[in-house]
Formats: sequence, C-alpha cells, structure tokens
Amino acid sequence: MTHPVPPLPTTTIAPPSGDPFHSSGQSPGVRTLHLLGPGAVGSAFLQQLTGLPVRTVAISDSSATVFDRNGVAVDSVLRHKAAGGALASLPRTERIPSELAVRVVAADIVVDCTPTRAADTQLAVARGRAALQNGSFLALCGKNALAAQVPEWLLGAFRGRVGVHAVLGGAGQQLVRELLDLREHASSLALVGNVTTTVLVAAIERGASLEAGIADATARGLLEPDPTLDLDGSDAATKLLLTWGAVFGESWQQPRTLAAVSRQDIRSLDVELVRQRARRGATTRLVARGSRAGNDLRVAYEEVPAGSPLAAPPDRVVYGYELPQGLRVHTGLAVGHERTAAALLDDVRAFLRAEVRS
Ligand SMILES: NC(=O)c1ccc[n+]([C@@H]2O[C@H](COP(=O)([O-])OP(=O)(O)OC[C@H]3O[C@@H](n4cnc5c(N)ncnc54)[C@H](OP(=O)(O)O)[C@@H]3O)[C@@H](O)[C@H]2O)c1
Repeated sequence: MTHPVPPLPTTTIAPPSGDPFHSSGQSPGVRTLHLLGPGAVGSAFLQQLTGLPVRTVAISDSSATVFDRNGVAVDSVLRHKAAGGALASLPRTERIPSELAVRVVAADIVVDCTPTRAADTQLAVARGRAALQNGSFLALCGKNALAAQVPEWLLGAFRGRVGVHAVLGGAGQQLVRELLDLREHASSLALVGNVTTTVLVAAIERGASLEAGIADATARGLLEPDPTLDLDGSDAATKLLLTWGAVFGESWQQPRTLAAVSRQDIRSLDVELVRQRARRGATTRLVARGSRAGNDLRVAYEEVPAGSPLAAPPDRVVYGYELPQGLRVHTGLAVGHERTAAALLDDVRAFLRAEVRS
C-alpha cells in the first residue's frame, strides 16, 4: 500500500554560521537532531522521541537528506520510507553523501542507525568524525565504526560525546561509567553479546532444527539485515573487538580487526551435543573471550553451567569483565529494534542531562 506524501517543508542546506553547537537558534534549550538511517531502528527512534526538547532537522537515507532547520515533517518522511520510498524521490532533497550532510547540517545530536556493513566501515567512521568535529553528540547503534575508533572516541578528546548504550545492547552506559576502573583492573573479557545465537541455541535445545530456529529469529526481527553476521560469529566478534578496544586498547595502536578473532559458525555446531548439555542441566552460549594481551581473541560455542552469569536468557546480553575480586557483569535488555531505539533515546537523554549540568 502506498501513502500520499504531502510536500515537505525543506530548504537548501547551507553551511552553519556561528557556533554549530547552538545551531537550533530560534528556540533556546531545544537541541537539533540529524537521524541517519530511517530503517527499523531509526524509525522506531524517531517515533519514541516525542516529548524531549529536541527538533529533528535532518533525516538521511542512502539516497539523500531531507533538511529543514524549523523541523522536518517526520511522520510524512517515515510514511514515505515505510511505503518503500527513497528520500531522493521526495521534493527538494539534497543528494549528497551522508557524511557530507552530517558536516553541513551540524546538528547538536547525530543519531546513526545505518546498517553495520564491513565494507562501509570507513564511511561510518567519516560520518562519526564529521559529527564529533562539529561538536555534536553522536549516538550509535552500529558497531563497525566504534570498533575501529574506540579508544579515541571513548577516551580521547571526544570523551562523553559518543553514546554506545545501543551498540552494547543496553549495557553501554555501564561500560562508559566504569571504563577507567575496568581499564586499570580488568584482566580479561567474557561476553554473550549476540542474542540471535542464544535464541537459536534455545530453539535447538527444545528440539527444533537450526533452520526452524533461524525462521523464528527472523520473524522476531532479531537477525541483522545481513544474517551472515549473526550466523558466522562476526557480530559477536565485532562486539568483542570494540569492548576489548575500550578496556585494553590505546589510541596510538592499530585497532585489531576481525582477522584477529577466531570464530565458530553456528552452522558447524553439533546440535546433538547442545541437546545433551541441556539434558544434563547445562546450556550452550556463543561466548566471546579475550585477555588484556589480546593474542587470544575468540568466539566459540561453550558449555555454560545453568547458574552462570553467562547463561543469559534470550532477552538479554551479558558483558563480563574479569577483575581481581571476580567477574563484574553488565546486563543489557536492548534486544530488537524497539528496545535498541529506546537505548539510543537513553543516550540522548543522558546527553541532554549532561548539557543542563554543564
Ligand atoms: N534491528 C535491530 O534489532 C538492531 C539491534 C541492534 C543494533 N542494530 C543496528 O542498527 C543499525 C540499523 O539496523 P536496522 O535494522 O534499522 O537496519 P535497516 O532497517 O536496514 O535500516 C538501515 C537504514 O539505513 C539507511 N542507510 C543505508 N546507508 C546509509 C547511508 N550511507 N547514509 C544514511 N542512511 C543510510 C537505509 O536507507 P535506505 O532505505 O536508503 O537503504 C535504511 O534507512 C544496524 O547497524 C544494526 O546493526 C539493529
């Protein structure tokens, strides 16, 4: 079904003048926001945004940017996208690369909900860098750019300006709060950060085939737009890389890449072994591990005792940090596109609160 789209009140993008951080101008206290990627997460985020002192002044998809410093007609844009339309097919949109749009719009807050694709990592980094160099707050839900930049974005001059709550499935604010302590004292990481594989293991334990489990996870919207990332362990490995980089990495070192992480594909999993463990009262999880030395990064299906913090149920992620006093566990519940959007919103709220305090 298609929806009629009323003309959008767009204006030509002009470079901002004066202090970009106060680009909203007309309404003191109201922050401007640029959303990149009005897909499943981005659309849910914009729908949840009501009530905050934030005005959406730009929305970019892969084809173009809709811009209006007085506020974009968000509902019309979302209806257009839900009907399968590209932003470039709307009147008076700007067909410029989104990293350039970020630089020119110079919104106070940039929320990046573009797909996580290895081939696009440098573009994602360029978008994030453009936002941060403008003085914007950057909220992320994709992993690749953060994995490539993590010590610089979380610890350097941009500290406090990058929201990662959604990237870590709702466990990102805990990591940021405790980061300096973890960097000093943690010796290793143990993460169950990929919920899709937990859902698949639970299906196998109930007697379903892997294929039926994949169909169930797809119906629940839990698979990445590119499902291979979940199935071959790349998503879990990328989360390990970015968490390892945050806790143990240094900005002057080359970031480790996926090639440094040994990975197990769920399609090589022995399903009978998984069911045997379940009959014994244990379970199986895709656990990502790495020590401070960083020469042992791996993602593999492990037997996990039922009472272990790593035996995370399929509605949550667990990020474990080994400290002298034991494993410190951060749990996140931002699973699926609505909760991921809510985690992004938590980052925006935290940013607005910090602004009030400063
Ligand atoms: N879905 C979830 O439950 C979930 C959970 C956690 C994290 N995430 C992460 O959230 C991100 C978005 O996921 P999603 O499920 O919302 O994906 P999606 O539905 O495929 O939406 C992606 C959106 O990004 C747009 N886009 C692509 N390239 C772009 C570019 N260069 N500049 C601006 N926009 C661009 C796409 O535009 P077009 O329409 O023009 O292609 C589309 O609107 C991913 O990084 C994913 O890993 C998702």
